[in-house]
Amino acid sequence: MKIALAPLQGFTDLVFRRAFAKYIGGIDQFYTPFLVLQKGDELRTSHRREVEPNVEENLVPQFIGNSLKEFIFFRDYLIDLGYKKMNWNLGCPFPMLVKKKKGSGLLPFPDLIEEILSGGLDDRIELSVKMRIGYDSSDELGAVLSVLNQFKIAEIIVHPRLGKQLYKGEVDLKAFEQAMVLSKHPITYNGDINSLEDFQRCLEQFPSLESIMIGRGLLKDVFLAKKIKGEDISSSQERLDLLEKIHGEIYDSYDSYLSGDTQILSKLKPIWEYFASNFNNERKVYKAIKKAGSIKKYNAAVAFAFQQGAKD
Ligand SMILES: Cc1cc2nc3c(=O)[nH]c(=O)nc-3n(C[C@H](O)[C@H](O)[C@H](O)COP(=O)(O)O)c2cc1C
Repeated sequence: MKIALAPLQGFTDLVFRRAFAKYIGGIDQFYTPFLVLQKGDELRTSHRREVEPNVEENLVPQFIGNSLKEFIFFRDYLIDLGYKKMNWNLGCPFPMLVKKKKGSGLLPFPDLIEEILSGGLDDRIELSVKMRIGYDSSDELGAVLSVLNQFKIAEIIVHPRLGKQLYKGEVDLKAFEQAMVLSKHPITYNGDINSLEDFQRCLEQFPSLESIMIGRGLLKDVFLAKKIKGEDISSSQERLDLLEKIHGEIYDSYDSYLSGDTQILSKLKPIWEYFASNFNNERKVYKAIKKAGSIKKYNAAVAFAFQQGAKD
């Protein structure tokens, strides 16, 4: 089973990915959160930093856009940097982007997807797509997949919710099954795998799956990919040590290029929304971190987290 770490804007940036690869492992493919052009042709420094220089192993840059011009910009930019794979985001549900026919907002417009792929695909770089099962209705799925079937696409990652659902409600496994039947490209499952049991259930339902992508589940239990691969780290002390190492690495990396408590805390604190679940008494841990208004208080809250021990 191939396991990818899902891109999560604000969480899985280069600092997190590199620390994860160095200390935890179990991941076959990493993705950047989506890169986007500002004012049609500018890429923010923070987005450039995600992919420049090209040094991360198994990193697939992801971009979002709804025009051939944007597609070609990212394609050529990533080819120039030496990347062999790129991922097009057709899944983002943020209303501001959806309104502009970006992310899942492009799913009701298969003709536009076709036009972009016709003009934009290039043999020098492999394309994968990450998508929802539709924006408004899963009835959109068939038309989108029949367009994708016409092109050379390496992989389609399907998160079986509608764009309009955001992250609410159940995943629609019937629609996912339909995607597996309709697509001639390999399909990767993504959504709500938070435990080994969730993974086993998924595999029972879709025994032909060869690849999954996990986001929040891997932030809440950083050892989940290793558990799935049967490489569990058995001692709780060993896990705690690794959690300390990954946190220390993330802390030091932000500290090296950000300045001032406010900037550093604005990167570190949000991670704990999910990361706190790696510890016993996760609610108390998260509350302590959220309350910390200075680096000194943050460090005290982190020490409190580590005193609670690693969850089984
Ligand atoms: C805070 C947040 C940010 C996200 N950012 C991105 C993104 O940049 N690109 C993307 O394709 N998906 C993004 N996603 C969606 C995830 O990659 C994934 O599809 C979704 O969380 C479902 O998988 P999970 O249940 O394993 O987390 C984001 C999700 C969340 C919650």
